[in-house]
Amino acid sequence: MSLRTLRFLTAGESHGPMLVGILEGLPAGVPIDCERVDADLKRRMAGYGRGKRMKIESDVARFVGGVRLGETIGSPIAWLIENRDWVNWQQVMSSAPTESGGVAESGNAPGTVEARRITRPRPGHADLAGGLKYDRKDLRDILERASARETASRVAAGAVARQFLECLGIKVASHVTRIGAAARAESAPPVSFAAALAVDESPVRCADADVAEAMVAAIDSAHNDLETLGGTFEIIAAGVPVGLGSHVQWDRRLEARLGHALLSIQAQKGVEIGPAAWCASQPGSRAHDAILPGASERFARPSNKAGGTEGGMTYGGELRLTVYMKPLATLRQPLPSVDIESGEPVDAVVQRSDVCAVPAAAVVGEAMVALVLADACLEKFGGDSLRETRRNYEGYLQQMANYPER
Ligand SMILES: Cc1cc2nc3c(=O)[nH]c(=O)nc-3n(C[C@H](O)[C@H](O)[C@H](O)COP(=O)(O)O)c2cc1C
Repeated sequence: MSLRTLRFLTAGESHGPMLVGILEGLPAGVPIDCERVDADLKRRMAGYGRGKRMKIESDVARFVGGVRLGETIGSPIAWLIENRDWVNWQQVMSSAPTESGGVAESGNAPGTVEARRITRPRPGHADLAGGLKYDRKDLRDILERASARETASRVAAGAVARQFLECLGIKVASHVTRIGAAARAESAPPVSFAAALAVDESPVRCADADVAEAMVAAIDSAHNDLETLGGTFEIIAAGVPVGLGSHVQWDRRLEARLGHALLSIQAQKGVEIGPAAWCASQPGSRAHDAILPGASERFARPSNKAGGTEGGMTYGGELRLTVYMKPLATLRQPLPSVDIESGEPVDAVVQRSDVCAVPAAAVVGEAMVALVLADACLEKFGGDSLRETRRNYEGYLQQMANYPER
């Protein structure tokens, strides 16, 4: 539901040879700087609280279609991101059957298929529901794909979409607002778009130095207590024109499309448009954004409590979305579970894991918002070439300046 003009698919397992992505529908002529794609991949890998896996990987997207001499050519854009950890998993993740015919015999040495078989599902992860649904006796078949390693491919797609959006003057940024109990005060002023662009300097991608310090301390103590932490982050999109999305049909409403895209990210369990929870506690006279005659623009909005959308459409204000991430489900002090083979009560399996991935999730959130906005722009302005899209966009802006037609 969330993409209407673009098509985007990913493939690949966490410990397979590589991740794959295809993005189809961008116009020809969009300048693509591949180094910027890799820079976004690095931002996703960073953040205080990530586990050992991110020390092994060094993500780089190898474009294998759709980009030539630094520009899109209108064909599907395709890329590969290698998993460096694959060398350690070649036997376990082999696509060909093993010598024992695909189902390894028990008692194999560590590192073999059998030794890595998972039968103790983690509460809060995809293991049990996926094992039951797909009828797998090795829960690795589920967790390999449920893993958020897949989000590297989303970030590559988002980095491409972002470069298209910038051609129309639209930019996307994010910042972390909570990790566990360490949070920006509710009364704190909104973080400006410029400040959000600078948060990569912070180890937790937080705009306030003192809150960032508290967040780092919270992650340290969670690590010592064998715990994990969730949190919240805000995505901001600036330069968004009036009229992306529509009120006319449920699946064209932009909030719904953004919500779908953000909730599709592993472990994200809530999305708030603007200060929606606060608005719900206020009378209508305080919760809405007045419309006033403007100086440069005809209709000025002195506040942005709606978070950038009214009636399923953008109205020209910044888009502001807060996303709620649950604490990670892989615990070094595991919760009770049941062995799927023996039916006996056991502790859930312990896998190599992050303590906190909220800063990384925010980077993935930016990518998903960039994809939805690129899709909504192409729905509104169309175009097989960037020149055509831009011409349509500029014509629309001129029409806005003459609204209503006289
Ligand atoms: C960037 C990122 C990193 C993640 N790292 C881990 C991790 O190390 N360990 C873990 O248990 N879950 C991790 N997750 C969350 C799981 O992938 C997710 O909880 C799981 O797939 C089940 O899906 P659900 O939480 O949406 O129900 C991560 C999520 C994101 C977005």
